[in-house]
Amino acid sequence: MKKRIAVLTGAGVSAESGLGTYRDNGGLWDNYDPMVVASAEGWARNPGLVLDFYNMQREKLKEVQPNTAHRLIAELEKDYVVDVITQNVDNLHERAGSTHVVHLHGEATKIRPENSCNDYDGFSEKLVVDIGYGAVHLGDKAPNGAQYRPHIVFFGEAVPMIERAVELVSQADIVLIVGTSLQVYPAAGLYRYARAGAPIYLIDPADVALFDKRVHHIQKVATEGMQEFVGLLK
Ligand code: APR
Repeated sequence: MKKRIAVLTGAGVSAESGLGTYRDNGGLWDNYDPMVVASAEGWARNPGLVLDFYNMQREKLKEVQPNTAHRLIAELEKDYVVDVITQNVDNLHERAGSTHVVHLHGEATKIRPENSCNDYDGFSEKLVVDIGYGAVHLGDKAPNGAQYRPHIVFFGEAVPMIERAVELVSQADIVLIVGTSLQVYPAAGLYRYARAGAPIYLIDPADVALFDKRVHHIQKVATEGMQEFVGLLK
């Protein structure tokens, strides 16, 4: 019976692929106000701006490739049951070969009618459309007549996959956190559901102030930290 690893990732795991993070210097939120381009109010106030922002994100995704960290995470599946629980909306984990990926905050390559509730289970999945790296504009309507919106969890919206994510973390034998500032809840609190005795590793070059003595901090960038982590498993 293979042991289980829950891998919690944030924007830092995709930084070395050339995708910006959100809160590092020069990060996305230095250049765009998340309340304008990534919130429920922003969508209500000016959906065109939100559509343009995610069109730009999709454009960027076309230009980048998974990096060594994504690939090493995918390769863990040879010896472990791996559940990737990512805050990222990029598709780099899947493109690196990971087969179990939970996107807590949605997926940039997908859209859905704006009148479908933010419920990943059941009906809305049938309405979700994968447009790859295409663009969506005001007036692009779903068959039910509603404007298409990004299949993203906006600030101010529920995170429907969080219960599933808690379940996966609480079943894990090892918890690995890669490249997140752990500032956005409920995602940031997930690692605390690690079972007693399950080791927790954090890969991040910053001095992430974690007061949880259980966390073993590998203070390196994701590509190097993942090589060290894989070495620790041997
Ligand atoms: N390797 C590993 N970690 C890195 C690297 C790297 N090369 N470069 C930066 N980091 C780390 C930073 O030190 C920081 O801790 O990645 C983290 C990025 O933090 P954020 O920019 O806050 O990104 P994230 O934690 O994913 O944001 C969470 O906030 O705006 C919302 O929905 C958005 O999913 C996002 C959420």
